[in-house]
Amino acid sequence: MSDRKPIISGNWKMNLNHFEAIQTVQKLHYSLPKEVYDSVDVSVHPPFTDIRSVQTVIEADDLDILLGAQHCHWEETGAFTGEVSPAFLAKLDVQLVVCGHSERRDLFGETDEMVNQKVHAIFKHAMTPIMCCGESLDEREAGETEAKVLSQVAAGLDRLKADQVASMVIAYEPIWAIGTGKTATADDAQTVCNAIRNAVAAQFGADAAAAVRIQYGGSVKAGTTEELMAQPDVDGALVGGASLDPDEFARIVQFAIA
Ligand code: PGA
Repeated sequence: MSDRKPIISGNWKMNLNHFEAIQTVQKLHYSLPKEVYDSVDVSVHPPFTDIRSVQTVIEADDLDILLGAQHCHWEETGAFTGEVSPAFLAKLDVQLVVCGHSERRDLFGETDEMVNQKVHAIFKHAMTPIMCCGESLDEREAGETEAKVLSQVAAGLDRLKADQVASMVIAYEPIWAIGTGKTATADDAQTVCNAIRNAVAAQFGADAAAAVRIQYGGSVKAGTTEELMAQPDVDGALVGGASLDPDEFARIVQFAIA
């Protein structure tokens, strides 16, 4: 067990309107004993339209749940119709921002360069990036998993300082495991997360590699969490579908520190 604090993040994607989001975050809070947060960070990443409502609940009820976003632009303001500024997220006390999710890359054309610009912008506004990487099924079957993942990691972390890398989160999410019910085996997740940590060590030094938190994501459920979290280089999970059910998500959080 490393001394990195585990982090479990719920990526709600385009699910739950702001009423449902409030209920979900409150139920999650009631399902988790207060001491849990000493041992694990728990974040929720609602759709943009919910963020102000969830922020209000977190502040009014003094919840220990961290507020996250799923995405942002890299510019602060300007003619970017439909985009959301990292400065506006910071103003809403958002602490963590997912960037480079495979759905953004595949469906909305996000490139490694854009992901890197976002990572820098998120840091500039004193928030923490959760930078995603992962291979497709074709890439896995062609034996290209590490080459793909490590190229995304190198590009996404370009021009960062070692202490920034140390403070961030990298989410390894094999694309074929997202929303499919297929999970990488714990061994496979460990192999790739270890390769990511070694690449961070080579690029940013041993201290950054020892501190950076690496999540696994892709069909994580309560039943698979404990084995994943037992892997030395897996420090948490980025949870999609299972995070929409507060009972299941609370079980995932508790298995993460079992
Ligand atoms: P999933 O999604 O848990 O539904 O597979 C994970 C993610 O996309 O972050």
